[in-house]
Amino acid sequence: MFKATLLKATEAGSGILRHYFNGTFEVSHKSDINDLVTQADKESEAAIVAVIREAFPDHYILSEEVGALPGDTSHKWVIDPIDGTVNFANGIPLCCVSIGLEKDGQMILGAVYNPFMNEFFFAERGQGATLNDKRIQVSAQTEVRRSCIVTGFPYTYLDTPNGPLQVFERFLRKGVPLRRLGSAAIDLCWTAAGRFDGFYEHRLQPWDSAAGYLIVEEAGGKVTNFKGEPYSPYEHGIVATNGRIHAEMLEWVNGKNQS
Ligand code: IPD
Ligand code: CA
Ligand code: CA
Repeated sequence: MFKATLLKATEAGSGILRHYFNGTFEVSHKSDINDLVTQADKESEAAIVAVIREAFPDHYILSEEVGALPGDTSHKWVIDPIDGTVNFANGIPLCCVSIGLEKDGQMILGAVYNPFMNEFFFAERGQGATLNDKRIQVSAQTEVRRSCIVTGFPYTYLDTPNGPLQVFERFLRKGVPLRRLGSAAIDLCWTAAGRFDGFYEHRLQPWDSAAGYLIVEEAGGKVTNFKGEPYSPYEHGIVATNGRIHAEMLEWVNGKNQS
C-alpha cells in the first residue's frame, strides 16, 4: 500500500513536470534571485500531497514549498516536487520528482523519477534498488584519482574553510573528472547506478536526499556526513560513494589528501 501510493504520487507530480516543461509558467525566487520556484513546483507538490493525503490522511508530510504538514510523525513523507528547478526553468531535462517515506525515523522507501529520460529509480529498505525495474548497483572503482565524481553547489555561497570552492579545486587540481548536474536526487541515483563513483555536497535539505540516499545504500553504496558518520537527511553535508572509495573521498572533501 505504501509503495502503491508512492508510485501514484510520483506519477501525479511528474505529470505536472511534463505538462509545463518548455512551456509557459510563473517563476519567482526564494532565498536568492537564483533560488527559483515555479508554478510547476507548486502544482507538482499539490498533486503529490493530494495523493498521499487521500491514502494516509494522518501521516506527516515534509515538502519543500509548503514545509511541514502536521500529522503522525511515525510516518513521514519527504517530498521534493521538482529537484533541479533551475534546470527545469531553463528547459534542461535533468530534473525529477523525489519522494521518500520514513517510518519510525528510518527511511524505508524512496522514488526518484526523471520523466524526460523516463528513468524511475526506486528502493525499498532491505530489497535493493532498481532503475525501471532492473536491479542497479554501485561501481567497482577503488581510487578517487580514477573516479568520476559529481557535486552540487548551494545557491548562497558558503564562505567557510573547506567550503565548496576549495573542495572543488582539490579535485580539479588533480584532474579528477567532476560534474555538476543540478539535481542532487539525480546525482545520488546516478551514483547508485554506477554512472558516478561518488557524490558530495555541502548544503542539502532533507527533500533533496531523502529518497536518493536510500537508493544509493540499497545499490550497495555508502552514505555518510562529512565526518564519516551515518547519514541523516536532516543534516546538511553528504558524501555518497560506491563504498570502495568512501574513506578516500572523506579525505578529499576534508582536505586530508595532500599526498
Ligand atoms: C537543488 C538541487 C541542486 C543542489 C541544490 C538543491 P532544487 O534543489 O538539488 O543540485 O545543488 O543544493 O537546492 O532547488 O532544484 O529543488
Ligand atoms: Ca531539491
Ligand atoms: Ca525543489
